[in-house]
Amino acid sequence: MEIIRTVAAMRAWRKQAGKLAFVPTMGNLHQGHLALVKEARRQADKVVVSIFVNRIQFGQGEDFDAYPRTFEADCEKLRAAGVDALFFPDERELYPRVKQDFNVEPPHIQNELCGAFRPGHFRGVATVVSKLFNIVQPDVACFGKKDFQQLHVIRMMVDDLNIPVAIVPVDTGRADDGLALSSRNGYLSAEERAEAPRLYRELTRIHDALKDGSQDYAGLEQAARDELAAAGWAVDYVEVRQADTLEIAHAGEKRLVVLAAARLGRTRLIDNIEVFR
Ligand code: PAF
Repeated sequence: MEIIRTVAAMRAWRKQAGKLAFVPTMGNLHQGHLALVKEARRQADKVVVSIFVNRIQFGQGEDFDAYPRTFEADCEKLRAAGVDALFFPDERELYPRVKQDFNVEPPHIQNELCGAFRPGHFRGVATVVSKLFNIVQPDVACFGKKDFQQLHVIRMMVDDLNIPVAIVPVDTGRADDGLALSSRNGYLSAEERAEAPRLYRELTRIHDALKDGSQDYAGLEQAARDELAAAGWAVDYVEVRQADTLEIAHAGEKRLVVLAAARLGRTRLIDNIEVFR
């Protein structure tokens, strides 16, 4: 696996790569990332992964400094997974003028759901992903459905800006007890880790009720918020939305997604489940 640290070297490598699939990450890789890599290998001749902890998508007081940096272990996993190249730029390489004056501004959805609790987050994600697309120039890029809102923003971005990259969504990887795999799970204490699967259980409960025909979105959301709060979670949101647009869901909608974000101690967890009925 080639390790590439500069924009110029990445562009030069890309020229000889043929059909190229890309998996952007912030490192601290787990099975969820490796599922993205596996899908990327199915999609193209060559696979490139990036590792870059992107400061501009973290808000004040968030975990940018604490975010786990595990470069050597990540490289081993990527080599074993058959990745052809790792793009590993430093901040100076990706943000040479330090400040990013031009940004990709997502529409109103960036201020809803996670965006309401993380102002500027999706602008930071959209901006860095568009930079990475311009550098790596992949044909295909794989994104996990766990970050459902992120996936939605990226899809809108490539459509609206005519970016020639096919976006491939990949199902959320889960531990045996249902907890969605996430780099942030490493922040959980043993006690919190035992409690954490409740988030997915609550989403599953809403999923089943919706499948059974319930139209009482508000009631289901409130019941899940109450259960989580009673178990010690600080809930940011539990919401039923339209799966394809993330707009507010109306009664009778057939394609839905239930999204939640809640904090257990100092760890903020997100998850979602799609409902097709
Ligand atoms: O999902 C992530 O790890 C990040 O948001 C991404 C897409 C790599 C952008 O920094």
